[in-house]
Amino acid sequence: MKVLIIGSGGREHALLWALKKSPMLTELYITPGRPAMKNLGILVDINIHNSMDIIQFCKREDIELVIIGPEQPIINGLADDLAAEGINVFAPNQAAAKLEASKSFTKELCKQYGIPTAKYERFIDETLAKNFVKSNRMKFPLVVKANGIAAGKGVIICNTEDEAFSAIDTMLVEKKFGESGEEIIIEEFLVGEEVSFFALIDGLKVATFGYAKDYKRSDENNEGQNTGGMGSYSSPSIISKDMEQKIIQRIIHPTIQALANMGTPYRGILFAGLMICKDGPKLLEYNVRFGDPEAQSILIRLDSNCDLLKLILSVAEGNLDTKKIELSDKSAVCIVVASKGYPGDYKKGEVIKGLDKIEAMPDVLVFHAGTQLDASGNWISDGGRVLNIVAEGNTIEEAKSKAYSALNFLEWPGGFFRYDIGS
Ligand code: AMP
Ligand code: GLY
Repeated sequence: MKVLIIGSGGREHALLWALKKSPMLTELYITPGRPAMKNLGILVDINIHNSMDIIQFCKREDIELVIIGPEQPIINGLADDLAAEGINVFAPNQAAAKLEASKSFTKELCKQYGIPTAKYERFIDETLAKNFVKSNRMKFPLVVKANGIAAGKGVIICNTEDEAFSAIDTMLVEKKFGESGEEIIIEEFLVGEEVSFFALIDGLKVATFGYAKDYKRSDENNEGQNTGGMGSYSSPSIISKDMEQKIIQRIIHPTIQALANMGTPYRGILFAGLMICKDGPKLLEYNVRFGDPEAQSILIRLDSNCDLLKLILSVAEGNLDTKKIELSDKSAVCIVVASKGYPGDYKKGEVIKGLDKIEAMPDVLVFHAGTQLDASGNWISDGGRVLNIVAEGNTIEEAKSKAYSALNFLEWPGGFFRYDIGS
């Protein structure tokens, strides 16, 4: 089977690595990809925001399945365009992708179907939003969120009225998030343990794919700015079977049923950002794709008998076999190495050494999120999040210790990473 993957980050590198093992695979393409992915797939240069270009390529090369990594092409409707041409695609349609594209869509759906989530109000008017804050109907801290996608930056936790007013101004007055912040949500602050939960969905059937913890802030102890994710770990012990059942029954199932009722069934992987609270799991947000860097620590745990390509194809074709997913009992840790300065300004083009030594270590993998090759064949930095060091172990501690030992070989003074991933 000929497969095309769309994307160029660490998540896509991990997907290539996992799919490459499939006996069903004949040819694997990636666009735009990165030089580090060349040993796993054929790099092709297509504008991923132009459906016609992708369709033409798929037809010319007889691509039988397209897997879309990042959210933007999904939200733009690429899955709809491919499906209209009869090309199998692993990603939801544009209407179902509103689960990620519009927080107010998701919140309303939760209200209508009784899905547990933080209490909220929606606003487009600055004065009404501020009056609501002043009314004290919602206690501090409270959370101000941009309705649309904002690269993980559209969520502001406010401890005081001043902070809430400033968050409201940022979104509704200064329009810092553009269209994404034209509507805002003010919601209750939930206390609990956060988990990223992933389910495969073929329209109606649901199967847990795995879960992970993600570290969103740039610095240790969850200080510093919000980032795309500075690391993750995945382990069978994160949640109990009983909690998993509650998540599926109270959150995932009703959501999938709601979308099916709307005539826009969900097909693909659904990523639920959850808070496990004293009174059960509550939905923080949905994403309509694999998480990055969660995918990296989950995919390394896929059992060798589990053919990821077969699984993904069954979702795309609407006949998911829910018993086919098997993760090992091991734990995995993924540490993101980023350019100093990220998520603010940072330098590019710095030489990175030592990756060969890291790759030679047992149970350790390197996925590239933002590198290029220079004319002399050196790896150079080419983004904010640059490398993912992923290690597997019998326990989280063991995986963590392997990943951090591997980082001792890294020679890149311009890079930084958090020392507490997996803690
Ligand atoms: P989101 O993009 O909605 O996942 O929000 C980003 C991060 O903000 C989440 O991963 C949480 O850590 C935090 N967050 C969002 N909403 C809430 C909430 N209602 N209560 C507590 N923390 C929240
Ligand atoms: N790690 C969070 C995300 O992929 O959005």
